[in-house]
Amino acid sequence: MQADGKSTTTAVVLAAGLGTRMKSDLPKVLHPVAGRPMVGHVLATLDGIGADHAVVVVGDGMDALAAAVRPHATAVQKERLGTGHAVLAARDFIQTHPADDLIVLYGDTPLITTDTLRAMLAARRSPARPGVVVLGFEPADPGPYGRLILDGDGALTAIVEAKDATSEQLAVTLCNSGVMVIDGARALDWLDRIGNRNAKGEYYLTDIVAIARADGAAAAVVIGDADEVLGVNSRVELAEAETIAQQRLRARAMAGGATLIDPQTVYLSWDTELGRDVVIGPNVVFGPGVRIADNVEIRAFCHIEGATVAAGTVIGPFARLRPGADLGTGVHIGNFVEIKASQLGEGTKVNHLSYVGDSIVGAGVNIGAGTITCNYDGHVKSKTVIGDHAFIGSNTALVAPVTVGAGAIVGAGSAISKNVAAGALAVTRADQKEVKGWADRFNAKRRKDKQDRKKEG
Ligand code: UD1
Ligand code: MG
Repeated sequence: MQADGKSTTTAVVLAAGLGTRMKSDLPKVLHPVAGRPMVGHVLATLDGIGADHAVVVVGDGMDALAAAVRPHATAVQKERLGTGHAVLAARDFIQTHPADDLIVLYGDTPLITTDTLRAMLAARRSPARPGVVVLGFEPADPGPYGRLILDGDGALTAIVEAKDATSEQLAVTLCNSGVMVIDGARALDWLDRIGNRNAKGEYYLTDIVAIARADGAAAAVVIGDADEVLGVNSRVELAEAETIAQQRLRARAMAGGATLIDPQTVYLSWDTELGRDVVIGPNVVFGPGVRIADNVEIRAFCHIEGATVAAGTVIGPFARLRPGADLGTGVHIGNFVEIKASQLGEGTKVNHLSYVGDSIVGAGVNIGAGTITCNYDGHVKSKTVIGDHAFIGSNTALVAPVTVGAGAIVGAGSAISKNVAAGALAVTRADQKEVKGWADRFNAKRRKDKQDRKKEG
């Protein structure tokens, strides 16, 4: 217990699995769901319940995974000898971070919620003071899952792995999710007593229930939603997890005051921030790092990533905002416009077919159709600066580094490679030439030629 009476928690996240069925060079738990690695979701959920300490159990040689979860601690399970053995790989961490509750979670089970973990911690405080609380669920197909064996009073007496179960036990539909909360003071003692005499020859964490009971402690079950405990072992299950995560994020966005016209076609990231009265059209995709303020309209078919959008802005249809796009209040971004690493001031408009990259654009600027900031010379990226209320004519190439002063006008079709002073006109196209009557003479001759050919034919 902490001084304020709050119970303390240490969590062990198992992630030593090889993820062979993913057929991937990336460790399984680093595959993203809603734009964040699966193990990142689990660690964030632990943060959400205010867990005091967490350690991730990784396999031997999984250095990339250890680096990815830093600053969280890792422990290495040298050989995969079962879930009980995996928790004990974190023995040192558990000993040096003693807590009232030891939570065991899985890096490949990203959808577990803070509500469920809180319910499990609350169950530990229930009058029976269970030494072990297991998260159970009713899967559509209990097949390979461990079965939760309850006595007549509904107390958990044992978990039996499918491979070790009798046909009577296999008929039980309440299954083990794997997630557990264990009395922190007794966990290591019980874990040390787990043996490996079973069908798989593994140290089953699940044996801890019978061991705790034999030691006079009670065990209890909290029943969770099957969606929450979906474990990802394949790309198909990764897609299933993504679907569930997206449903939750869409519901959260709408609960927060955003309209999603066709929610099933809007893809959000774990960290997408949407203000009130944001309206999102069909087929919009949000990558990580997006913040959208109030009253923004995002029309159909936009792709937005790493962008900050101020209130009252209108984006799309068919626009792309890339990382570092920072749009001021009331900006208009129209169709087939790409913005990258650029600040656009209040009320600025880029309505058609443009690329604005590495730029600082002032307020009230009008960027005409087909304008391109030529920010890359094949070696380095350079900046374009456009002052307030400047007007950039259609089909302008702004060859960076270049500055267009406030209130300046650039004539359509210009290639601007020198700075333009404030209030000036810059135009680089050749002067227009006009030949009186030329078109009439040309057309008359062509028509006559055609008639002559017909007569001959
Ligand atoms: C485990 C449970 C089973 C439960 C099921 C839920 C045991 C003995 N069985 O079975 O009751 O219904 O999960 O999905 O616990 N891991 C390691 N190191 C190991 C072994 C496993 O890190 O040595 C990790 C795996 O990466 C995986 C998790 O622990 O994320 C579960 O291991 P797995 O082998 O899938 O256990 P199951 O046989 O599915
Ligand atoms: Mg499994």
